[in-house]
Amino acid sequence: MDTATRIEQALTAAVARAEAPPAPPKLAAAVRHAVFSGGARVRPQLCLAVAKACGDDTPAMSDAAAAAIEMLHCASLVHDDLPCFDDADIRRGKPTVHAVYGEPLGVLVGDALIVMAFEALALAGAAEPQRLPALTVTIARAVGTPAGLVAGQAWESEPNPELIAYQRAKTGALFVAASVAGAVAAGSDPGPWRGLGERLGDAYQIADDLRDAVCTPEELGKPAGQDEALGRPNAVAEFGIDGALARLQQLLGEAVDSIPDCPGAPDLQQLVLLQAKRLTPKRLAPASVA
Ligand code: IPE
Ligand code: IPE
Ligand code: MG
Ligand code: MG
Repeated sequence: MDTATRIEQALTAAVARAEAPPAPPKLAAAVRHAVFSGGARVRPQLCLAVAKACGDDTPAMSDAAAAAIEMLHCASLVHDDLPCFDDADIRRGKPTVHAVYGEPLGVLVGDALIVMAFEALALAGAAEPQRLPALTVTIARAVGTPAGLVAGQAWESEPNPELIAYQRAKTGALFVAASVAGAVAAGSDPGPWRGLGERLGDAYQIADDLRDAVCTPEELGKPAGQDEALGRPNAVAEFGIDGALARLQQLLGEAVDSIPDCPGAPDLQQLVLLQAKRLTPKRLAPASVA
């Protein structure tokens, strides 16, 4: 089965559990909206690509890790779009969860997805219980505090956050967790895989900042120009368009170079190159990624 199908099947099973009776109907519909609204699924793809490179001897475990990471990402988007954060009405080209279902359900959908992520991990853990503690801690740290996604979003409530620390926490940490969790779920040493998640995570938020600065809302499927409008620390403000683009290219090159020599390496290189092409705004793309 290809990785995209594995990811959608694992997410479908988790959402089906959440919307079964006696679930409140609007909460069930809102959870479905948050998960199945057209995300690129980059983090679970990274997780499964690393798992495959490590032999993927227990697919139920790696599928659960991939789905958990994507559910946590979806939760972060639903919360990030709330009026008290970025106040966005459009996400993935569709109305945001709170725009359709209201703010209370926006808060609750994020909460539900966080719990669903850890439930999915626990259910899959029966296959290889000794891998579960490391897998759970890896993923929990990436979304919590002091250096995970929650901490990253919290830096927006502090004066003058440092850009790299802010971006590594709010975005990079989940990419690191995706690569590390792929290895852990497959029973391998995650050490050689950290670098890939770190480079890709750093690159990903720089690309998001560039796209926020130069793309239209139609191209992005979400509001544009938000970093400047909301006064968020961002790579374009810090390095300029050319400086941010140079850093993006450098990081993507380092991401490719960091992939350990193994039978899964070509697939992972392909994944990074595809993301490089997808993420670099077309009007800025150098010939190497155009
Ligand atoms: C958006 O992530 C939020 C960032 C951390 C930049 P993605 O660009 O991966 O969003 P989806 O999942 O494809 O919508
Ligand atoms: C994404 O940062 C951080 C999250 C953890 C969701 P942004 O606020 O820049 O992401 P978008 O542009 O809303 O996707
Ligand atoms: Mg934000
Ligand atoms: Mg936002």
